[in-house]
Amino acid sequence: ESAVASRKGSLAPSPPPSVKGIGKKVAKPDYSEQKIVVAMVGLPARGKSYLSNKLMIYLRWLEYDVKVFNVGQLRRTKARQRAQQLGIKENHTADFFSHSNEKATQSRDSLAEESLEMLIRWLKEGGGNVGIHDATNSTKSRRAKIEARLAKEKGMTLIFLESLCDDPATIAANVELKVSQGDPDYKDMSPDDARKDFLRRISEYEKVYETITEPHLSYLRIKNVGEEVTMSRINGYLSSRIAFYLMNLHIRPRSIFFSRHGESQYNVEGKIGGDSLLSPRGMQYAKALPALITDNIGEKPLTVWTSTLKRTIQTAQYLPYTKLTWKSLDELDAGVCDGMTYEEIEQAYPDDSANRDEDKFNYRYRGGESYRDVVVRMEPVIMELERQENILIIGHQAILRCLYAYFHHLPQADLPYIKIPLHTVIKLTPKAYGCDEERYTLPINAVDTHRPKPKAAKAPEVHSTTQRKYYVEEDNEMKPSV
Ligand code: F6P
Repeated sequence: ESAVASRKGSLAPSPPPSVKGIGKKVAKPDYSEQKIVVAMVGLPARGKSYLSNKLMIYLRWLEYDVKVFNVGQLRRTKARQRAQQLGIKENHTADFFSHSNEKATQSRDSLAEESLEMLIRWLKEGGGNVGIHDATNSTKSRRAKIEARLAKEKGMTLIFLESLCDDPATIAANVELKVSQGDPDYKDMSPDDARKDFLRRISEYEKVYETITEPHLSYLRIKNVGEEVTMSRINGYLSSRIAFYLMNLHIRPRSIFFSRHGESQYNVEGKIGGDSLLSPRGMQYAKALPALITDNIGEKPLTVWTSTLKRTIQTAQYLPYTKLTWKSLDELDAGVCDGMTYEEIEQAYPDDSANRDEDKFNYRYRGGESYRDVVVRMEPVIMELERQENILIIGHQAILRCLYAYFHHLPQADLPYIKIPLHTVIKLTPKAYGCDEERYTLPINAVDTHRPKPKAAKAPEVHSTTQRKYYVEEDNEMKPSV
C-alpha cells in the first residue's frame, strides 16, 4: 500500500483487497457454435499443405480449435498396417494414383471419405471449430460427394480452398521438398527415382483435374499465393476472416526482425511499464543498431515499426529507413501497477502477484491487460506482417513474445516466459514450414528483465495440453505432404 501511496500521493484511496485464486482472468472466447469444413483442392506440389498449416496456425492464434486431416497421412498409416499384417512391402508409387487403376481409385476415394468422417466426428463430438480436409479433391464428382455428405449435417459450413500454381520454380521447389526431406512415401527410393515417381503422380492427377467452376459452391481460389484470389459465396464472420487472411499471404522471400528498445531508465530501476527514456547504455544500442541492420539487409528495402512509446522511437532514431508508429505495439498495459517494481506489486497486491505467477497468460492487471488481451490486440499487426516484406519491429518484451509465439507456433502457457533479451536482434526468415531464426546480440551490457517461470505456475489446462500434443503430431503435419 505504501508503494501505491508514494506513487499516487497520500490522497490515493487504498486498493480494494485482492483475491487469491480468482484473479482478474479473461475467459477464452466461446466459439462452440462455429463449425467450418475447409476442403482443399489442388494438384500435388501446389502448396495445399502450406496453406492448410498457415490457416491452422492463424486460427489457433485466435483461439479457434483447428485440426488438419491429411489424407496422405491416413493412407500411409493404413498402408503400413496392411503391409505389416500381410508381410508385404508398402506401395506408394504413382501406379496407386493412376485414375485408370480402378481398384486404387476406389481405395483413394474411400480414404478421402474416411478422413472426412473423422473430421466431421471431431467437429461434432470433439468440440472442434475448423476442420481442414487436406486432400487433392481434384474432380467435380469428388467435390459433389463432399457437398452431399455435409448437407446431412446441421450447422456446418463447407468452403473449398483451391491452390493453383503455375510458377515452375515454386512447383520444382515443392517437388524437391517432397523428395529430399525423407518423405515416408519415398523412404525406400533414391532421390532420383523418387523425383521421377512423384512427377508421374502429378501427371496422373493432371489427366483428370478440374478447377472449381461449380457456381453454387462456396470457394476461394488462390493463385501463386499472393498473386490472385477468387472468392465465391463466402458469407459470415469466420469464413470472411479466413478469406481475408488468405488474401494477405505471400511467399516472396523476406525477413522479419524483432528488437526490444534499448535499455530504458525504468529497466535499470526495475520498474515496469511507463514511458521513460533510454539509459546511457540504451542510447549506445540505438547508435549501434543501424550498422547491424544495414550489414544484414544490404540494399533491400526495409520498414521500421515502433510503438508510440518514447523508448522505441528513441531506439529507432538513427535507422535510415521509413518508420511507422503503431499504438497497437505499445507494451502490455500493467494498469494500476504501471511504474512499480515487481517487489512493490507483491507488497501492494500479494494475491494478484500469486495469481499472475499461477497463470500468467490469463492474468489481467487491475485496470490493465493480460497476455491474452495483447494477443487479440496483435491480430491486425500479424495480418499486416503477413502482407509486408522486410520489417524491423522495435518493440517491447510482452509484445514481441506474442508476435514471436505466432511465428514459431508456441503454446500459450509458454508464451509469457519466452526470452527476448535487451540489445539483441532476432531475425526470422519464413520458410515453407516454419521460420529460420538467427539472433545477434550487441556487446553492450543491459539488465536482464526476464523472470523465470515460477514453481507455482499451474500445469496447462486440457486445452493447452491438447495444443502441446498437436505440436508432436504436427511435426508430421508440418512436414511437406504435397
Ligand atoms: O520489464 C520490462 C517490461 O517491458 C515491462 O514494461 C512489462 O510490464 C514487462 O516487461 C512484461 O514482462 P512480464 O510479463 O514478464 O512481466
